[in-house]
Amino acid sequence: QAIPNFDLVIFGGNGDLAMRKLLPALFHRHRDGDLPVDGRILAVSRTELTRETFVAQVHDALADYVAEHFDAGLWATFAERLDYLRVDANTAEDYAALADALGDDPARVRVFYLSTSPDLFSAICRNLAAKGMVTPATRVVLEKPLGRDLASAQRINEDVGAVFQEHQIYRIDHYLGKETVQNMMALRFGNSVFEPLWRRTWVSHVQITVAEQLGVEGRGEFYNRAGAMRDMIQNHLLQLLCIVAMEPPARMDQDAVRDEKLKILRSLRPMSGAEVGARTVRGQYRAGVSAGKPVPGYLDEPGIPSGSRTETFVALKAEITNWRWAGTPFYLRTGKRMQEGVAEIVLYFRDMPMTLFPTVGGVPNRLVIRLQPDEGLRLDLMAKQPGDDMLLRPVGLNLNFAETFRQRPMQAYERLLTDVIRGRLALFMRRDELEAAWTWVEPILHAWEASSDSPKSYTAGTWGPAAATALISRDGFAWHEDY
Ligand code: BG6
Repeated sequence: QAIPNFDLVIFGGNGDLAMRKLLPALFHRHRDGDLPVDGRILAVSRTELTRETFVAQVHDALADYVAEHFDAGLWATFAERLDYLRVDANTAEDYAALADALGDDPARVRVFYLSTSPDLFSAICRNLAAKGMVTPATRVVLEKPLGRDLASAQRINEDVGAVFQEHQIYRIDHYLGKETVQNMMALRFGNSVFEPLWRRTWVSHVQITVAEQLGVEGRGEFYNRAGAMRDMIQNHLLQLLCIVAMEPPARMDQDAVRDEKLKILRSLRPMSGAEVGARTVRGQYRAGVSAGKPVPGYLDEPGIPSGSRTETFVALKAEITNWRWAGTPFYLRTGKRMQEGVAEIVLYFRDMPMTLFPTVGGVPNRLVIRLQPDEGLRLDLMAKQPGDDMLLRPVGLNLNFAETFRQRPMQAYERLLTDVIRGRLALFMRRDELEAAWTWVEPILHAWEASSDSPKSYTAGTWGPAAATALISRDGFAWHEDY
């Protein structure tokens, strides 16, 4: 399906996300020849900037972020798509110029991308509606954080819902745009081999890890209000859990898929306040060495108040109480300044009933789904080592997507932005999903706030606090860390 003509208005258009992710993603699609000639990108923010200065900023950002894919000829045609307008989100009069810039061609898809603080979402939606800019061909994209608890998420949903219908609202979780996440659906629902094994009978447990080597990277103030639970678990890791655990949808249509994800979120066993201590671990990094360089501790990062109890690491044990998964724990783990930067999902299959052969370094059969880096799949098996003796050792059946398909992997935002323009909702969160995720997360946050314990300290450049190892080893398992 070709991408229709569009006007993409980015609120917060000169901000960090726009420069680092959104504009580079659009440049890639432009470079691949996927964007219609008449697709326009209009950045707005309250900063006083001329178009020329903005375009120069985008040039520098692209030169950095698309690196070897940058091309001066293509830049010239991409730059023609760009425009900039000063709009103070809270000032109704500023919107008149925006309405003029957009015009009233009903054939153009109109997208408002709200890459601002969620505190501005209601004012922006109200002002857009007041100036008649919301037509049936209009869509709105909401960037996270979508609230800091259930009540604030509901408020955002109410305010945006007063102006846009649910089918016009695209709540973005960029993890759903990652190629491997969609490949997981292909693996599960486009093949017959794994499906019979994909259940409590054969899977002893599942691990989902999103570890980063990065620290808070100049976002200290924002991060300190959020913490790893709100920044990563509530959205990215729970969405990954949904894709691993959901039932096959009846069709690959947007609501059938989202209905199945919602059922998983609603089947997560709520954690009582008393259980939180035993089932979750919060950590905070102290100074250490990350990727070969000495790095400061969290409390010494710019913008972090002394004595902050914000967690930069979370490990937890989740349970899905449904027919397929009851009794198979899902261990989730995420952190900043970890030993490796890696995102993966690992399904561990149950042990054999008995051992017939001697082994060197035995591992359970497991399926490793690697999101980053080096997207791929690995199935760990035991095989006979060549030689006289019947000696078994672990081997991996390895599939590396880049090598197999020899194509530049598409970045998450490249797909998601064009999905919005095409009107494809499947990879965006529906209101009920967002609220169900908060419903599960909120009691954990409350229990942490009420507790007198601080997050456990861990050295930057390690796998997190020892308590995270204990959390999983109590159940007889170990984190997958042999990279
Ligand atoms: C963002 C978080 O949503 O995801 C960041 O706010 C985090 O803190 C990022 O670094 C991770 O995304 P990715 O695609 O780099 O794994």
